[in-house]
Amino acid sequence: MAPMAEIGGTETPDLGRVDEIIAEYRGQKWALIPLLQRVQEEFGYIPPQAVGSIARALGLFPSQVQGVITFYTQLYTTPRGKRVVRVCRGTACHVRGGKTILKLVKQHLGVEEGETTPDLEYTLETVACIGVCALAPNLVIDGNTHGHMNPKKVAQLFGRKGEG
Ligand code: FES
Repeated sequence: MAPMAEIGGTETPDLGRVDEIIAEYRGQKWALIPLLQRVQEEFGYIPPQAVGSIARALGLFPSQVQGVITFYTQLYTTPRGKRVVRVCRGTACHVRGGKTILKLVKQHLGVEEGETTPDLEYTLETVACIGVCALAPNLVIDGNTHGHMNPKKVAQLFGRKGEG
């Protein structure tokens, strides 16, 4: 991932690197999605500050670029955690305590659904049935399923250093 510059205590994306990527696609309207994917690969998300430059380079309006980013759920406008946690909210998991598992994960990580921890370790999401209902309730971390979840397992997975 591209380096971030520390400015005024806030990490700011290296927009010079964005410009380098944009230069490869200049004037190619059809290339909007590949360009957005490249930027996301580089930074882990699409810095909102880059939307104007991307639009100018491709001869589009910023609202058109923003519209595409909003439409594609795989494109993100905020930094993502190193690890993505998805708690299943399908029916089988729900009736076997999935709601409590989600609540506990939120408490452990200190974030709501769709948010990333301030240390950029975890992003928390929910997901529809992942197809292993027999193991409900389930959650997935970076593609690895953790079944038969219970409060103790949640604590084992997410108990941070220094916590009981
Ligand atoms: S409902 Fe959770 S795996 Fe099917």
